[in-house]
Amino acid sequence: MKRNRLQTDAYLPWVADIIDRVQESPTVFTWRLQFADADIHRRYRFKPGQFNMVYLYGVGEIPISIASDPADEGLYDHTIQVLGRITQAMSRLEPGDQVGIRGPFGRSWPMTQAKGKDVLVITGGLGCAPVTSVIKYVLQRRKEFGKLTILQGVKRASDMVYNDRYATWAEAPNTQVLLAADQGGPQWPWYTGTVVDLLKQVDINPLDTLVMACGPERMLQAAMDHLIDLGLPPNRLFLSLERNMQCGVGHCGHCQLGGQLVCKDGPVFAYPQVQDLMAISGY
Ligand SMILES: Cc1cc2nc3c(=O)[nH]c(=O)nc-3n(C[C@H](O)[C@H](O)[C@H](O)COP(=O)(O)OP(=O)(O)OC[C@H]3O[C@@H](n4cnc5c(N)ncnc54)[C@H](O)[C@@H]3O)c2cc1C
Ligand code: FES
Repeated sequence: MKRNRLQTDAYLPWVADIIDRVQESPTVFTWRLQFADADIHRRYRFKPGQFNMVYLYGVGEIPISIASDPADEGLYDHTIQVLGRITQAMSRLEPGDQVGIRGPFGRSWPMTQAKGKDVLVITGGLGCAPVTSVIKYVLQRRKEFGKLTILQGVKRASDMVYNDRYATWAEAPNTQVLLAADQGGPQWPWYTGTVVDLLKQVDINPLDTLVMACGPERMLQAAMDHLIDLGLPPNRLFLSLERNMQCGVGHCGHCQLGGQLVCKDGPVFAYPQVQDLMAISGY
């Protein structure tokens, strides 16, 4: 797939302004960004599933998925979970602060192949961030796709982000939203258990469904096993995978997955491309 590149130097970040910041949960926040340079702002294009390398000056750079629809012109979102040194420093920035952006990088979700089919989105933890762009894309072009089913699982009910968005998405035509928490608690109105157990209760048309999934690899493996048992062809199952990244453009080798580079050949893979490696612990 051709990468949409504006930069002549792929290592040189552009400056972006933080326009808005939403605290999604105690450890997750969403930035709305806008490039400081009006020309870059106008020309920047991405596809659902691609990521940016986000650079905090003096601290470091990390890959973060773009959580917007490409039609949301000009402004775009990154949802970030606070894990370690860089994300902690990023969490302290406020609207008016600036970051560096290189991108967009990587292969996108197969939106053309999904046209006319039912779309099943399965996510675990913050796996919901890379598929947010898919959900927005389908809902803004609703008639081009069949039934949209969104399954999202978290460990604890308090880990759930995008609660308002799930409620809005559930109101859309021909769209089903199903949420799961391993530990639900008395106030949890949704399913208590794993997202894979919830998946087993969903009515899926194996002949006409395309699956896009992201989350912990053990969860992804269990979901793929179930869908193949149901009769879905493996080449209609797509995963977005994460590996440690440094360059983001296929030069450093940090993100190697067997003979493939996640930054360049992924992060979205058709399941047959990664099936054998995912079966090996530690890959
Ligand atoms: C293509 C791609 C897209 C991504 N999109 C997003 C996104 O939209 N939002 C988001 O919050 N994160 C995303 N990530 C993950 C994000 O890049 C890492 O969380 C980030 O690099 C952590 O940096 P840090 O310095 O804060 O933590 P570190 O100090 O590097 O790590 C802190 C702890 O978290 C663990 N850790 C680090 N990275 C990951 C990971 N990817 N998965 C699980 N545990 C990890 C480390 O092992 C360590 O224990 C994406 C990663 C990739 C490869
Ligand atoms: S991050 Fe450098 S090769 Fe992928």
